[in-house]
Amino acid sequence: MEEGVGVVNEEIWALGAESVILRVRRWGRTLIEKRRRAKPYLLPEIDSLLRRQRTNRECRMLNRVRRLGVRAPTVYAVDWSSYSILMDFVQGEQLKVIAQTCSDDDLMDLCKEFGRMLGLLHTGGVVHGDPTTSNIIVDPQRRLWLVDFGLAEWNATVEMMAVDLHLVRRTLETTHWDRQEIMLDAVLQGYWDQMASSADEILSRMEEIRERGRYH
Ligand SMILES: Nc1ncnc2c1ncn2[C@@H]1O[C@H](COP(=O)(O)OP(=O)(O)O)[C@@H](O)[C@H]1O
Ligand SMILES: [Mg+2]
Repeated sequence: MEEGVGVVNEEIWALGAESVILRVRRWGRTLIEKRRRAKPYLLPEIDSLLRRQRTNRECRMLNRVRRLGVRAPTVYAVDWSSYSILMDFVQGEQLKVIAQTCSDDDLMDLCKEFGRMLGLLHTGGVVHGDPTTSNIIVDPQRRLWLVDFGLAEWNATVEMMAVDLHLVRRTLETTHWDRQEIMLDAVLQGYWDQMASSADEILSRMEEIRERGRYH
């Protein structure tokens, strides 16, 4: 694709719910450019406000969670005119895809790690906001990376952390219904390993949220 001086290499790597994920060559490296698309059904003012807020949130959270020890891409630049973030390209495959074919043992190890990672995040007072298995990338060394922090929040309360876990359960029920039980058990095991007894209150709140949902 021609752009300014010379040729810029870029290809569409993935389409997210609200963004285009481009794989680009910059400074001799392969990086990801996450560009938040306009939503035509929103008023333009609201649309740019939301895109700006989420881009801002995502950059700040990516930096913050890496300090907590969670693997997440490093941010190199932000373009506020196209609401795009230039970040590390994480090589690997979505947990969502891997979970369709891997063995039970492998799946349990990966999900335990997923739970530990959520625990690490929550210990640091951060909730992810969209903890689906598409937002986890498994690299060739079988390490987990977390992406998509546009809905993340900090100063998390017990309720917010419990909602994060509830969302994990909902994802497993809808996307991985045939393996949801072993996946959820492993996630909660890993979460407990990380949080120890401070997980108890959050786990019982998660059950409470589920019960609330049943009667609505
Ligand atoms: N830095 C990255 N490296 C590799 N793949 C990525 C990266 N960021 C996103 N992706 C891939 O693109 C998909 C969509 O990105 P995501 O940030 O989740 O967008 P959206 O907010 O629109 O859902 C992710 O599920 C992931 O598979
Ligand atoms: Mg996503």
